[in-house]
Amino acid sequence: MQKEENYFKTNIPGFDELTGEGIPIGTAILVEGGPGSGKTIFCLNLAMNACKRGKKVLYMSFEEPEYRLRSHISKFGWDTKEYEKKSLLMIKRFNALDIARSVEALLSEAKKELLIEVQPVLIPKDFKPDIVLIDSLSSIASAFSGEESRFRVYMEQLFRYLESNEITSFLIRETSNPNHVGTSFVERAEAVSFLSDGIIPIYNVFYDNGKRGRAIEVVKMRGTNIKRAVVEADIIPKKGFVVYPNKALKGKYILT
Ligand SMILES: Nc1ncnc2c1ncn2[C@@H]1O[C@H](COP(=O)(O)OP(=O)(O)O)[C@@H](O)[C@H]1O
Ligand SMILES: [Mg+2]
Repeated sequence: MQKEENYFKTNIPGFDELTGEGIPIGTAILVEGGPGSGKTIFCLNLAMNACKRGKKVLYMSFEEPEYRLRSHISKFGWDTKEYEKKSLLMIKRFNALDIARSVEALLSEAKKELLIEVQPVLIPKDFKPDIVLIDSLSSIASAFSGEESRFRVYMEQLFRYLESNEITSFLIRETSNPNHVGTSFVERAEAVSFLSDGIIPIYNVFYDNGKRGRAIEVVKMRGTNIKRAVVEADIIPKKGFVVYPNKALKGKYILT
C-alpha cells in the first residue's frame, strides 16, 4: 500500500471514487470539455478544497480576470481572502500574448530550443505552489497561433518544470467536439495529451427528452486504478461541483 500523501484528493463530493487511490502527487492532469461544461468551476472547487487542507495553490487565469474568479468562488460560499492572506492561494491573471512574446525572446537568445527556462515566464518567483491550475491551455495556444512548434517547446518545458518541482497540476483544455477528448487530435496546436499523466473530460449532456445535464469521467490516470464510466455530475448553487460515481449515464443522450 502506498502512503496516502503520495496521492492528491480533490475532495469534490463523489469525484475521488473515480480515481482509486487518488491523483498521484506531481502529475499533470488535463481537464477537458466544451464551453460551459464546468471546467473552471471544477478547478476552482478543488483549489479551494486544497487550500482548506493547507496546500499552496496557484490559479493562473488566461481568460477571466481575478475579480470574476473571486466572485464565482464567493457564490459557492468559499472565501478566498483568508487563504490569500495566509499566502496559501494566489489567483493571477496572465496575458497569453505576453507569454508568447517572452518565449519567442528566450528562444532566440537560447539558440538551442530545449534550453529555455519557463519558470521566469510563468510561475511567480516568490510563490512555491503544491498545486497549479492553468485556465486554459487553449488560450495560451491561441496566442502562439502560426507558431505551433514554439508552443510545443513551451509546453514540454512547462510539463518538465511542473514535474521536477513535484507540482500537481490541472491544465484546462477546451475541446469543441467531445470526440476529441483525450485524443492527440490537434486542435489549435494543442497536441498535449501525450505529455499528460491524466485526462478528466467534463461533458454537457443533451438527453433525448430535451433535458440537459452534466457528466464527467476519468479516461486516463497513470499509476491508479480508475473507474471507467461516464457518470452524472452537477453544479449546485452555494455548494459547488458534485459527482455521482454510481450513476452511469443511461438512456438516449449525446455528449456535447
Ligand atoms: N453560482 C453558480 N451556481 C450554479 N451553477 C453555476 C454557478 N456558476 C456557474 N454555474 C454553472 O457553471 C457553468 C459554467 O461553468 P464554467 O466552469 O465557467 O465552464 P467552463 O467549462 O467554460 O469553464 C455555467 O454555465 C453555469 O451553468
Ligand atoms: Mg472556463
